[in-house]
Amino acid sequence: MPTKIIILAAGKGTRMKSALPKVLHPLAHKSLVGHVIDTVNTLSPEQVTLVVGHGADRVKASITQQVTYVEQTEQLGTAHAVSQATGTINDDDTVVVAYGDVPLTSAETFAKLHALASPTQIGLLTVTMDDPHGYGRIVRDTAGKVTGIVEQKDATDEQRAIREINSGMLSANGAVLKTLLSQVDNQNAQNEYYLTDIFKLGVAAGHTIATVQPDHEWEVAGVNSRTQLAELERIHQLNIANELMESGVTLRDPARIDVRGQLDTGMDCSIDVNTIFEGHCRLADNVSIGPNCVLINANIGPGTTVHANTIIENATVSSGCSVGPFARLRPGTELGDGARIGNFVETKNAVIGLGSKVNHLSYVGDSDVGNNVNVGAGTITCNYDGANKHRTVMEDDVFIGSNTALVAPVTVGRGATVAAGAVIARDVSANVLAVARTKQKEITNWERPVKNKKTD
Ligand code: UD1
Ligand code: CA
Repeated sequence: MPTKIIILAAGKGTRMKSALPKVLHPLAHKSLVGHVIDTVNTLSPEQVTLVVGHGADRVKASITQQVTYVEQTEQLGTAHAVSQATGTINDDDTVVVAYGDVPLTSAETFAKLHALASPTQIGLLTVTMDDPHGYGRIVRDTAGKVTGIVEQKDATDEQRAIREINSGMLSANGAVLKTLLSQVDNQNAQNEYYLTDIFKLGVAAGHTIATVQPDHEWEVAGVNSRTQLAELERIHQLNIANELMESGVTLRDPARIDVRGQLDTGMDCSIDVNTIFEGHCRLADNVSIGPNCVLINANIGPGTTVHANTIIENATVSSGCSVGPFARLRPGTELGDGARIGNFVETKNAVIGLGSKVNHLSYVGDSDVGNNVNVGAGTITCNYDGANKHRTVMEDDVFIGSNTALVAPVTVGRGATVAAGAVIARDVSANVLAVARTKQKEITNWERPVKNKKTD
């Protein structure tokens, strides 16, 4: 029995007050519907169909996963939405209906729901809530069997007291779903085609309704406003923080970390507050990350310390390095073992060798820096001539004095020393001292200017 998923994503999301379709709003840097697609894909479905409507073109353009689209041009209700996708359903399929604005349902919950569907049984995900206001209520008979779902607007006072609510998510056999959908009408308070009507119709046709509840209420929480989006973001981040701590990472404050992508960690890493991880970051064993750092696709080797306020993007740092505080490693930076990058240093597209140091106020771009090189404070590689970028090479054991400008393309030979304040525009031979600055002179009997007297 192949699995097919239908994700409803046609709604407007009026309360978001946004030009962006609601399901494209990001949670941890991934769209809401992107989360849903990734999670339902753990069921190995044969097909995932997205019902799109408002902002359909934008939704289609921004989804990267493999899905099929059907369009619902008028939003006539949830049953009408699912009906748009029935062309993709075969009789022997198992269908799961999910929602593009409910991002945090777990894979386990979807698996449990999926397992309930059969040719004689419909699966339904319900939650017992303290405050069920606004949701469809699950109506059961005296034996506890589900007989139907009644919407808030159609419910009697007695029914409104029911605390078990409909999440909207269900699972059903393909033939059963198609038959029941064709019987749904819009005779209700909202004149909508209610998907929820398939339950009472199913019971009438002799099917049983089997329910399952998720482990956490937030798994069925939808996003209708930016406040709800922020609430779910915090829940999601706290879940990630808990997973990190369970896997052996020390977090100074689990409420102050943001992982917007994937973070792989070794043993005994520690992460201080307000650090943001984006893309796919990897921390090896014993890595320490200071407060207020931003790491994007960063690869950090064992025993390395990243100090406060450092930004590392698409860069690789080897073992036992020290980076920051206030350093910026831009794309293409590769630090060898034991390298040190200090405060207010920017690197880009630079390979920096074992034990080399760039400790203060420097820019090293488009460079190959050898092993045991010392780059003095304020050194700048002038890699851009206004049209093209050129490489700077500093061979092993080079010492660059402070405030040096290295005008690329240029090579400083192995073991050479560059005296402070140099403008190096030609290659420097190995093992020499290169001095490139005007000689100091003294002007005697020189008098400082004095302030002119004010005349009135
Ligand atoms: C629905 C359920 C309710 C349940 C609640 C859970 C029905 C009739 N009611 O109510 O029992 O407790 O969800 O949140 O199903 N959508 C479309 N096309 C449409 C209508 C809706 O794509 O024509 C999408 C919306 O974008 C939204 C989802 O389906 O993502 C739910 O629709 P909404 O109108 O919000 O349903 P509720 O009234 O909340
Ligand atoms: Ca509605």
